[in-house]
Amino acid sequence: MARTKNLTAEEMARQQKEISVSEFFAKNRHLLGFDNPRKALLTTIKEAVDNSLDACEEAGILPDLRIEVQQTGEDRFLVEVQDNGPGIVKDQIPKIFGQLLYGSKFHRMRQSRGQQGIGISAAGMYGQLTTGKGPRITSKVLRRKAHRYEIHLDTTKNRPIIGKDEELPEWNLKHGTRFTLDLEASYQKGLRSVDDYLKQTAVANPHCRLEYQAPDGTERQYERATDTLPAKAEEIKPHPYGIELGHLIKMLRETKSRWLNSFLQEEFCRVGPKVAKDILGTAKLSERAYPSRIARQEADALYRAIQKTRISAPPTDCLSPIGEERILEGLQKECDAEFYSVCTRPAAVYRGNPFVIEVGIAWGKPSGAELEVDERGRIRSRKRKRTVDTEDLLGNADDTVRLLRFANRVPLLYQQSACAVTKAAIQTGWKNYGLQQPRGGLPVGPAVLLVHMASVWVPFTSESKEAIAAYPEILKEVKLALQEAGRKLGAYIRKGKRLKREFEKRSYIDKYIPHIGIGLQEILGFGDQERHDLVERLRDSMETTRKI
Ligand SMILES: Nc1ncnc2c1ncn2[C@@H]1O[C@H](COP(=O)(O)OP(=O)(O)OP(=O)(O)O)[C@@H](O)[C@H]1O
Ligand SMILES: [Mg+2]
Repeated sequence: MARTKNLTAEEMARQQKEISVSEFFAKNRHLLGFDNPRKALLTTIKEAVDNSLDACEEAGILPDLRIEVQQTGEDRFLVEVQDNGPGIVKDQIPKIFGQLLYGSKFHRMRQSRGQQGIGISAAGMYGQLTTGKGPRITSKVLRRKAHRYEIHLDTTKNRPIIGKDEELPEWNLKHGTRFTLDLEASYQKGLRSVDDYLKQTAVANPHCRLEYQAPDGTERQYERATDTLPAKAEEIKPHPYGIELGHLIKMLRETKSRWLNSFLQEEFCRVGPKVAKDILGTAKLSERAYPSRIARQEADALYRAIQKTRISAPPTDCLSPIGEERILEGLQKECDAEFYSVCTRPAAVYRGNPFVIEVGIAWGKPSGAELEVDERGRIRSRKRKRTVDTEDLLGNADDTVRLLRFANRVPLLYQQSACAVTKAAIQTGWKNYGLQQPRGGLPVGPAVLLVHMASVWVPFTSESKEAIAAYPEILKEVKLALQEAGRKLGAYIRKGKRLKREFEKRSYIDKYIPHIGIGLQEILGFGDQERHDLVERLRDSMETTRKI
């Protein structure tokens, strides 16, 4: 048997080679959400739609999106996502769509759907790897002609190659972007499908309008529930508590601030003259020291002094939560339930990053009658409004509740069990709120639990942005929000149960009143009219007793 030769250090040295980020992710495409054809279709659409919504909101435009998916071969699909956003300046197009880790959101601290600068170029790379064709982009900026590009990705160098670059004399939009990609994929309806993602996007983004053409040709429109854009998130500077030592040293080296004192005030949020003085006093460093000359040990002292100083929590105008009213609108629009309960928590902080947790619960009986008290104080059964939507999010009474997870308004469809939201929902005692709950599991019942985390940086467990890491602060906030909304649900379910019990008892008695009338008529020997009056009197007195 031939044996492979042992290598010398020199031979090993000759084999060393730089690896480009695109070569790495081409091999590890599962890290970016392209691990199977079904998920590849979803990820591609998700990356394009998330970018479109971000761009529209940043430009103050009410989003109007069209998503088209066509099956072009046994395992081939054509995806087209078009938005009415501000468009993309011509010379930025190749890099945005043809270079991994290029984007406008990574370095800033402000809530947005995208954050890594890898999403849309990764989709383009996947399309190119599986079909040989790169992405096509048409984009128009106001008062400029539209441009159409065909891009190829040079994965060895992580650089775009421009295939075609043409100016279009006419285009149907005043401004906007259309992204087109051929890719190997498969399409299936149901949970975690493109349809599911778009429906959940409509729930969490009631200000956007979506038009969707599925591969089977069916058209679906999600209309706006509101014409008001979400409040704009402001960019903030990092909070001192969130900075690690290595990062602090880098900031000291790169800052344009002259003195240490001004460095602290200019580079961080919530540091004014007094806090800066306190920090430097604790660190035993001069206010007039040059930041670039701070040695590692001094930086360490500065880092420790920061941790010891009381600094107020970061500002929260960098966040744009959905808000209780909008969550309610979104849930009511896409989910026909009997009872809704919502809760938006005050802002909290993990690793110096502000975040807000929001929860919405929709609960409804799976079928049939619902009880209500009418204007005369009688309990009546009311027919539930029929669910018009075939893909209703509410399940049956013996199903596990449907958990809808969102991060910065983006639905998270995969890796449910790895997510902090799921862990917190499992750790919440749902029996207190009228739902069944198996040990170590999610509650059971005809309910939808919506949980949204809004943050300047969502700590995803991987680059594919599918699950939120379980930081203790995040777990705690999710639990508190679930408890608050859960308490309202519990009160409602208890009231419903009480009404139901009383209704059953009363209908039982009601059934026997005529028999009592007949019995008494036979014993006392009075006529039919008297029997009729007696029955009425018995019914009235039952009503009076109930009211008392
Ligand atoms: N439809 C669009 N309209 C306007 N700008 C866009 C559009 N799509 C992408 N961009 C710009 O291209 C950049 C890169 O997009 P990409 O999806 O690769 O990264 P990202 O959105 O910044 O982060 P993530 O990797 O988390 O999605 C964005 O930051 C944005 O500035
Ligand atoms: Mg993106």
